[in-house]
Amino acid sequence: MKPAVVAAGVDRALAHCAELARISSLQDGIERLHLSPEHKLANALVAGWMREAGMETWQDAAGNQCGRLEGRTPDLPALVLGSHLDTVTDAGAYDGMLGVMLAIEVVDRVRRSGRDLPFALEVIGFSDEEGTRFGTALLGSRAFAGTWDDALLTLTDRKGTTLADAARAFGLDPARIGDAARRPEELIGYLETHIEQGPHLEDADRALAAVSSIAGARRFALTVTGRAGHAGGTPYDRRRDALVGAAEVIVEIERIAKETGTIGTVGRVRAFPGGINVVPGVARLSLDLRGEFDEQRDGAWDRIDAFARTVCERRGLGWQVEEFYRADAVPCDGRLRAAVEDGIRATGDAEPTVLWSRAGHDGMAVAAVTDIAMLFLRCGNGGISHHPDETVTAADVAAALDAFEAAVLAVADQRSR
Ligand code: GLV
Ligand code: MN
Ligand code: MN
Repeated sequence: MKPAVVAAGVDRALAHCAELARISSLQDGIERLHLSPEHKLANALVAGWMREAGMETWQDAAGNQCGRLEGRTPDLPALVLGSHLDTVTDAGAYDGMLGVMLAIEVVDRVRRSGRDLPFALEVIGFSDEEGTRFGTALLGSRAFAGTWDDALLTLTDRKGTTLADAARAFGLDPARIGDAARRPEELIGYLETHIEQGPHLEDADRALAAVSSIAGARRFALTVTGRAGHAGGTPYDRRRDALVGAAEVIVEIERIAKETGTIGTVGRVRAFPGGINVVPGVARLSLDLRGEFDEQRDGAWDRIDAFARTVCERRGLGWQVEEFYRADAVPCDGRLRAAVEDGIRATGDAEPTVLWSRAGHDGMAVAAVTDIAMLFLRCGNGGISHHPDETVTAADVAAALDAFEAAVLAVADQRSR
């Protein structure tokens, strides 16, 4: 049986996830967007929990919520633990949030144990991993990593609010978001715990995995243009139906992705003018394309693009491509990954499972400033995520917390060798 303090940490992490789930812009369901009033409330709540765990706290210039526990001596470089506090629309309660809550619990354990680590511990709740509001992901972690670009300030949300205005309304100075950048010498690495968001651990009957790499992703806004016309009066041989052309492309995206071992998702389709009795003149689709290796993903895109051009030519349609997001695949650092594997072994799993992450994570951006590694824990219901049915068990969360703590101690051991 686990000592009471361990159970308390697990229960508290889960209770905190439940409390965060109530901070939502939806009446029914979870949605917490970057730079929203809900983001502000979540940061304040999380800052309080960080302080209870013994950390000094601050919100950085990009709206990331940060906390710090000093190491053996003040001002040592930090091992950063964290994940994100923003969500997709109609989200689950664990994607991102659980990683931040477990990071706080690891700090709480380290402080209570009186251990003097050869580095400071920082916890960060990133402000935007999902990109739900402005369509471009990793805004908080890019600012942290020093790859912020002021051109991002002109991005707009669905209501037409620019990122610059949203930052002002949140209380940030848009001209200073780049000041959130950390210097490599202030950091020794970044460790993130996250639910797997897929079925592999559940299928393998394992609680935990070390992550080998994070998939590279490209996102496109695709437009097929034809000509609108009367649904009854336009004969088939004269139609230039943009949506039917788009449909052919969508089916081929799935075929090419399966064949190349990549993952292609068309998550948004809109037809214009959108009349029930009007041949669609324009179809707009989104494409999210991922692969374990960038060349594999890029090869799949080249085939999709070539196929779409052929279809559009055959059907007398136009084809336009706007790529609005690109993040290359990021391998986890060997030493940090070894520490994560040691952490998993400390829970009694002698042969840690290793998975590559199909989902994107803040570590992709953070890797520009410091080494990264990740620990995955099983999520139930077939690994469903980005969905309210996202679920974890307390036993798996307990294993993840033990492994996360042991991984931090393994990093400390590595550094004293
Ligand atoms: C983020 O969750 C992503 O993988 O899109
Ligand atoms: Mn997500
Ligand atoms: Mn996530």
